[in-house]
Amino acid sequence: MLVVFGLMALFVLLTREMTLLDSHSFLRQRYAQIPWLMLAHGVPGALAIFLGVFQFSSRLRQRYLQLHRVMGRIYVGSVAISAPVSVAVAMALPLPTLFMASVIQAVGWVTTTATALYCVRTGKIQQHREWMMRSYPFAAVFVVVRAILPIPAIERMGVFGIATVVWSVIATACFLPSFVIAWQALAASRRAEKVRTAA
Ligand code: HEM
Repeated sequence: MLVVFGLMALFVLLTREMTLLDSHSFLRQRYAQIPWLMLAHGVPGALAIFLGVFQFSSRLRQRYLQLHRVMGRIYVGSVAISAPVSVAVAMALPLPTLFMASVIQAVGWVTTTATALYCVRTGKIQQHREWMMRSYPFAAVFVVVRAILPIPAIERMGVFGIATVVWSVIATACFLPSFVIAWQALAASRRAEKVRTAA
């Protein structure tokens, strides 16, 4: 799953985000009125999406706990800046159909991250891990949506295609982590049961 996500991120970076470096590109023209908002949204957003991946590595957590803590703080700070600013970006851009999608995504990202922070501060490590599993997909929506939109059949659907993809990916980010967490717990209890009956 990580490899597929990595390839999607690379595709989005090379085909879309690199055009931000060209001042005549469509995206730069689109954001010409709000360059500072876009920087305040995009830079911490990119930091969160990059650092978030490493936070799930058990090897990194076990060997370099201090690094995990520092990167975790940067992740939380990045979310606290990027998510609220994204709502201002959505308000400033002419895309009324997707304004509420941005609000839901931003609220989901902030509340899951804040809950993960609360859990680690109160020593609930397992719940902290689970809430981080719920937080990161809200960031991953950025990559997944932009990786799907260039599919020709979807591109041909126009605004309807964009709205369908954005809402479907946000909905998936909302339920998929809870589904994975529940199945991991079921598998763990089955393993424990087998060990008990074998003993
Ligand atoms: C709560 C989560 C997020 C929301 C609600 C959100 C919302 C938005 C919106 C509304 C736009 C303008 C799209 C348009 O041009 O019509 C945008 C653009 C952008 N966002 Fe986000 N975003 C989120 C997360 C992220 C993350 C995690 C990153 C990290 C890479 C990111 C980086 C960017 C960048 C670089 C742009 C400008 C280039 C582009 O549209 O591809 N955003 N975002």
